[in-house]
Amino acid sequence: MNDEPILQVKNLSKTYIRGKIPVHALSDVSFNVNKGEFLSIIGPSGSGKSTFLSMIGLLDKPTKGSIFIEGAEVTKASESEAPRIRREKIGFVFQHFNLIPTLSALENVDIAMRFARVAKNKRKERAIELLTQMGLSDRMKHKPSELSGGEQQRVAIARSMANYPVIILADEPTGEVDTKTRNMIVDLLKGLSEKGQTILVVTHDMAVAERTSRMITMRDGKIESDRRL
Ligand SMILES: Nc1ncnc2c1ncn2[C@@H]1O[C@H](COP(=O)(O)OP(=O)(O)OP(=O)(O)O)[C@@H](O)[C@H]1O
Ligand SMILES: [Mg+2]
Repeated sequence: MNDEPILQVKNLSKTYIRGKIPVHALSDVSFNVNKGEFLSIIGPSGSGKSTFLSMIGLLDKPTKGSIFIEGAEVTKASESEAPRIRREKIGFVFQHFNLIPTLSALENVDIAMRFARVAKNKRKERAIELLTQMGLSDRMKHKPSELSGGEQQRVAIARSMANYPVIILADEPTGEVDTKTRNMIVDLLKGLSEKGQTILVVTHDMAVAERTSRMITMRDGKIESDRRL
């Protein structure tokens, strides 16, 4: 057994320069995540939650510090290597779903694998499997505009899973859905984590955070508390 944490964050800092004023969005943050953890990140607006996710997801570079995914330092990746690592290791779920409006549910999941150069028949099989797992077997041909918010978010979760990511990063995945749909999305994420999927979810909703297995509270770019539930 490999007991090494799946994600290691070491002394991570991010300073944005706004005009001439530095904004310390993250200040010397360190923490580890084990495989299969379902972790929530809460905290006031501006506390650095999204900045944190975008560093882990290799969407932006930290000012200082390092991130290791499965023991490999991803913060060392060059601009040309980062997209591949992101595609292979990270699944993203966003508040606004970010689906391609002209493509069907099936095609939206398919395209994530096309970028990863998966063979066509394999892609179709995987997309059908994932959408079925999300309870969308009768919605595969629908375009995003023909789906409810909850259905769109389930397509987005299916898409995030397509390339067997090491970590799923979700920023306010239930920010735009009703309570019933929120509960369904949390059930789905919880189910995935119980099967070993590592998930980090940023949320303002305590009802979501309380259903995760570990809650991190951020304040002023630092981890204020970290507790197992
Ligand atoms: N690209 C940027 N340029 C300058 N400052 C930024 C940038 N992105 C974020 N910030 C600042 O960094 C701080 C942390 O922002 P971040 O988006 O991480 O907060 P958050 O916790 O996700 O907030 P919210 O709950 O509102 O989404 C804020 O003060 C924000 O204004
Ligand atoms: Mg945010």
